[in-house]
Amino acid sequence: MEERRVTKTKLIFAFLVVLYASITCTQAGDIISANQTLRYNDTIVSSQETFELGFFSPGNSKNHYVGIWYKKISKGTVVWVANRNTPLTDTSSELTLTHQGVLVLRNTTTGNVVWSSTNSSNMSVRNPIGKLLDTGNFIIYEEDGVINQENPIWQSFELMTDTLLPGMKMGWNLVTGTERHYTSWKSADDPTSGEFSYSIDIRGYPQLILRDSQKIKFRAGPWNGLRFSGAFNLKQNPIYNFTFVLNQREIYYQYNLINTSVFRRLVLQSNGRLERLLWIDSKNYWNLYLAPESDICDRYAECGPFGSCNIDNSPVCECLKGFEPASPDQWRVADWSQGCRRTIPLDCEPREGFNKYSNLKLPDTRGSWYNQTMTLVECEKMCKSNCLCTAYTNSNVSGTASGCLLWFGDLTDIRTVTQNGDTLYIRLPSSELGISKQ
Ligand SMILES: *[C@@H]1O[C@H](CO)[C@@H](O)[C@H](O)[C@H]1NC(C)=O
Ligand SMILES: *[C@@H]1O[C@H](CO)[C@@H](O)[C@H](O)[C@H]1NC(C)=O
Ligand SMILES: *[C@@H]1O[C@H](CO)[C@@H](O)[C@H](O)[C@H]1NC(C)=O
Ligand SMILES: *[C@@H]1O[C@H](CO)[C@@H](O)[C@H](O)[C@H]1NC(C)=O
Ligand SMILES: *[C@@H]1O[C@H](CO)[C@@H](O)[C@H](O)[C@H]1NC(C)=O
Ligand SMILES: *[C@@H]1O[C@H](CO)[C@@H](O)[C@H](O)[C@H]1NC(C)=O
Ligand SMILES: *[C@@H]1O[C@H](CO)[C@@H](O)[C@H](O)[C@H]1NC(C)=O
Ligand SMILES: *[C@@H]1O[C@H](CO)[C@@H](O)[C@H](O)[C@H]1NC(C)=O
Ligand SMILES: *[C@@H]1O[C@H](CO)[C@@H](O)[C@H](O)[C@H]1NC(C)=O
Repeated sequence: MEERRVTKTKLIFAFLVVLYASITCTQAGDIISANQTLRYNDTIVSSQETFELGFFSPGNSKNHYVGIWYKKISKGTVVWVANRNTPLTDTSSELTLTHQGVLVLRNTTTGNVVWSSTNSSNMSVRNPIGKLLDTGNFIIYEEDGVINQENPIWQSFELMTDTLLPGMKMGWNLVTGTERHYTSWKSADDPTSGEFSYSIDIRGYPQLILRDSQKIKFRAGPWNGLRFSGAFNLKQNPIYNFTFVLNQREIYYQYNLINTSVFRRLVLQSNGRLERLLWIDSKNYWNLYLAPESDICDRYAECGPFGSCNIDNSPVCECLKGFEPASPDQWRVADWSQGCRRTIPLDCEPREGFNKYSNLKLPDTRGSWYNQTMTLVECEKMCKSNCLCTAYTNSNVSGTASGCLLWFGDLTDIRTVTQNGDTLYIRLPSSELGISKQ
């Protein structure tokens, strides 16, 4: 009996210790409760101390921002900025979580709202809290409500800045009509939205496009079921896996870490370079793991319409078989901007057909059409029956290959590669059929 009581006392004691520890932990915390205010030097830290949220001032900047940065590793690497376009000019502001579950950044002198999170939930909230997760996501949710951690009121992952972290979705929510893409910082000292952006363009079959202001700089291209058609070096690997989701509700790209003790980020640098960086702990630096846009052929439409860029050739541009330079004089002096035209024009006669071109980067899909369930035979029939259709292929080469992708008009931004390329069937007059097995 005595023995038992001792055990019970011990248990209660242990319970109290755990309870105390968890309370102090919360206070040291990863949480902002309703009506709680963070001032200039206050921060919250995720439970494994991976990320920290608070006020910061980048480099030599005199401005101040609210952001999230790595805590355990890599001093000063900011992954998210709240008020990137509304900087604070002094240190007298406050960050508060309202009782309605909205994160508000206020100028304490004037009381004006400098920045606030949005209300994307239509449900009323009673007791919201904000929590910084070890994924780098700051979420606002109700502890015991429908608006839980999986379905939060708001999350910082909804507001992308220049960094794609593991688990973030880049792309479209077609139900709410919201789009998430990333935009570079103006400079290393200035998180203001810069001129470069990387987004999923859904005019036609969805494709990844890197822009310099409005101008296309690089096109990773459409997802072919295995990879992006123009991102030849993005392969399955032991560090992270990736997916592209395309359905009635969502269109997005996402990657996840296979070993979560690794730190990795995809960032669109202020100079427009897209870098996949991996933290090397023993050397204490971010190693460049992968960067696209490695050669001239990655420049958008380098060889013009119906031209193909092959980095192993000199010069790099050539016309696709069945096509010739549109402006031979310009072409001769390496001005490829006019591209190529058909050697023999099409006149939409019934004997026209398609030649197969292998190992290509698929052309620009803006203005294309697709159906994810059609077969290649149905796809060819559909293209042939429309005089404006210039090319077709399977939209998904994974497994047994399926789906249909149709192009109309010019075919632009094609590359020829030695392996891992896609197949394209291009419409040609009957006299040109079978001329190539390029
Ligand atoms: C929230 O905080 C403000 C200022 O600290 C205080 O005046 C107000 O009464 C608080 N509201 C609630 C509901 O606790
Ligand atoms: C924040 O901390 C720094 C360093 O401890 C100090 O110099 C500064 O005055 C503090 N700023 C505010 C607004 O509390
Ligand atoms: C708050 O507003 C005042 C008046 O517009 C301005 O002088 C001050 O710099 C602002 N404070 C911050 C932190 O931006
Ligand atoms: C919130 O939106 C959902 C879906 O749009 C709808 O079914 C639900 O009735 C809405 N709830 C409220 C409280 O408006
Ligand atoms: C969001 O707005 C709805 C009304 O549109 C309101 O009922 C709800 O309380 C708001 N939620 C938050 C978190 O502000
Ligand atoms: C990627 O890896 C994570 C972690 O191992 C796993 O949960 C997820 O299902 C994987 N996703 C894909 C598409 O393979
Ligand atoms: C994950 O990475 C850590 C650090 O590099 C390593 O120690 C660990 O063995 C890895 N775990 C697995 C399952 O690969
Ligand atoms: C795709 O093609 C299939 C087979 O031809 C057809 O049944 C389906 O309705 C098409 N879907 C769309 C969205 O056009
Ligand atoms: C592509 O095809 C594979 C194998 O049939 C299938 O598992 C996958 O869901 C398809 N992807 C898309 C985007 O349709």
